[in-house]
Amino acid sequence: MDGIGANPEMLPREILPGVFVCADAAELARLAARRFVDWAWQSIAKDGNFHVALSGGSTPREMYRLLATPEFRAQVDWPRVHLFWGDERAVPPDSPESNYGMARRELLLRVPIPPANVHRMEAEDPNIGRAAHNYEAVLRKCLPIDDRGFPRFHLIFLGLGAEGHTASLFPGSKLLRETSRWVSTPLVPKLSARRMTLTLPVLEGAQRVVFLVSGTEKASILHTVLREQLDPPLPAQMVKPREGERLFLADEAAAAKLLASQPQPIPKGKS
Ligand code: 6PG
Repeated sequence: MDGIGANPEMLPREILPGVFVCADAAELARLAARRFVDWAWQSIAKDGNFHVALSGGSTPREMYRLLATPEFRAQVDWPRVHLFWGDERAVPPDSPESNYGMARRELLLRVPIPPANVHRMEAEDPNIGRAAHNYEAVLRKCLPIDDRGFPRFHLIFLGLGAEGHTASLFPGSKLLRETSRWVSTPLVPKLSARRMTLTLPVLEGAQRVVFLVSGTEKASILHTVLREQLDPPLPAQMVKPREGERLFLADEAAAAKLLASQPQPIPKGKS
């Protein structure tokens, strides 16, 4: 990951290939916001636009807030940015549970992105299956299609659930065997609620997939995802971009178990 943030004290440690660790959640948010700006420049220079799927949950909130600050907001050509979601809860957009609602409050209302460039999942639709179908049509209209017939995002942000779910792809779901649909509406037993989510083939079609992982409660699952071969693998372990990059940006709390299992450098003169 080239010249990240270009500010030495912000340089995260690459503890494993594609796994970068920052001191804390604030630095993690700043690192992610910094990379969003850099990747936006690169994509807009190359393709004239920047297609991004945002993640939900609580971890990306601080990054969204930072992107809306004068320091970052001015560095992004927002009229060329198109925002989508990786998944959504079956709640109205003004619900505190809504992934779109959170991003709207923290980011969309504070940056000059044209409303036509904001493509939310209408997962509150009583006919959620039809809404998923409509969302697939939106992706088909907006995004380039790769040679496998799947939409190609420049960037997809993902979170990591404590049991290894990502987007709304949960362990044991038959959706993990999906090979053709782009958008699906799984009923999540443990939540006894429906979700709308991009499917695995779409996540794997992205140019770049970035997991944002923060907090001690994620230390065990992050170690499992990156260090253990499970059969079947966890959803977060299954996201391997076909022709793209997969990155994990984590804070030290989330990487604690990984760091503890790292071979310790032999102090000079001790060998
Ligand atoms: C959602 C998410 C989900 C989330 C993880 C991590 O709608 O809940 O998209 O996949 O990213 O559950 O959530 P936290 O960031 O809140 O830990």
